[in-house]
Amino acid sequence: MNIDEFLELARTRRSMRRFKTDPVPDECIEKILEAARWAMSGANAQPWEFIVVKDPETRRRIAEAKDEQGQMVSALEATRVKEMRQPRYRGLPEIPPDPGFKDAPVLLFVCADARTAQASVLSQIYDRRWIVDENTANTTTMIHLAAAACGLGSQWVTVSAYFEALVRPILGIPPAMKVLNMIPIGYPAYESKTAYRRELKEMVHYEKYDETKYRSNQEMQDFILQLRELSKPVYPLK
Ligand SMILES: Cc1cc2nc3c(=O)[nH]c(=O)nc-3n(C[C@H](O)[C@H](O)[C@H](O)COP(=O)(O)O)c2cc1C
Repeated sequence: MNIDEFLELARTRRSMRRFKTDPVPDECIEKILEAARWAMSGANAQPWEFIVVKDPETRRRIAEAKDEQGQMVSALEATRVKEMRQPRYRGLPEIPPDPGFKDAPVLLFVCADARTAQASVLSQIYDRRWIVDENTANTTTMIHLAAAACGLGSQWVTVSAYFEALVRPILGIPPAMKVLNMIPIGYPAYESKTAYRRELKEMVHYEKYDETKYRSNQEMQDFILQLRELSKPVYPLK
C-alpha cells in the first residue's frame, strides 16, 4: 500500500449508523481483530481485549440497554437549548430512542484491563485512566480502518458509565476490565455523505502556536452549532 492508497482509506472510512442484517464473514472479523492487535500502546502494555457478539439474543439485550440509556439522553437533550441539541433530538419528545446498530450482525466490544497501566514507567505521574483509554482509542481506530478496508461499515459507540453498568452483567466482564467502546460492524444500509473536516491550515502551527488561529469563544460556539447542523444527514432517523 502506498501513501495515496492509505490516504484514500483514511478519507473514505465513514461512521455507519444503520446496517444490513446480512452476516459478515468470520474471516473479515478475524482480519479486523488482527489489525487491532497491532495497534501502538504505551510501554507496549496492550490493554485491549475484544468481545465479539453475534448471538441475536445477546445483541437484542444490548440494544435494549442502549435504548434505556437513550431515555436518559433524551431527557437531558430535551432540557437543552434547542439549537444545541443533536438534530435527531430536536423533535423531542416525539422521537423515541432507537439504536441504529440493532441490525448489525456483529457487535465488537473493546475492553481494557486497567491493571496494564502499571506497565508504564509514567504510571506514577500519569492519570492511569488516560494511558489505558489512549491505548484503547488506538486499537479502536485500527478496527475502524480495517473494517473500511474490508468494505464494511462500523460505528464507534461510546460506552458511558450508564451503558457500561447495564452491559457488564450481560457479557460477564471481570472487575478489572473496563469497557471502552462498542463497534457494531456490518454491511452499510445507506450511502454515507462525505464527512466534514476542518482545513489543515486552521489546525497546524509551525514552530510555535500561531495565536491568530486561536478561536474566540463565539467562534467555538458557532463551530459547535455548525457541527450540529452537519450531523443531520449522518444520523438518519430511519
Ligand atoms: C471518542 C469517540 C467517540 C464517539 N462516539 C460515538 C457515538 O457514541 N456514537 C456514534 O454514532 N459515533 C460516535 N463517534 C463517531 C464520530 O461521531 C465520527 O467519527 C465523527 O462524526 C466523524 O464522522 P466520520 O467517522 O464518518 O468521519 C465517536 C468517535 C470517537 C473518536
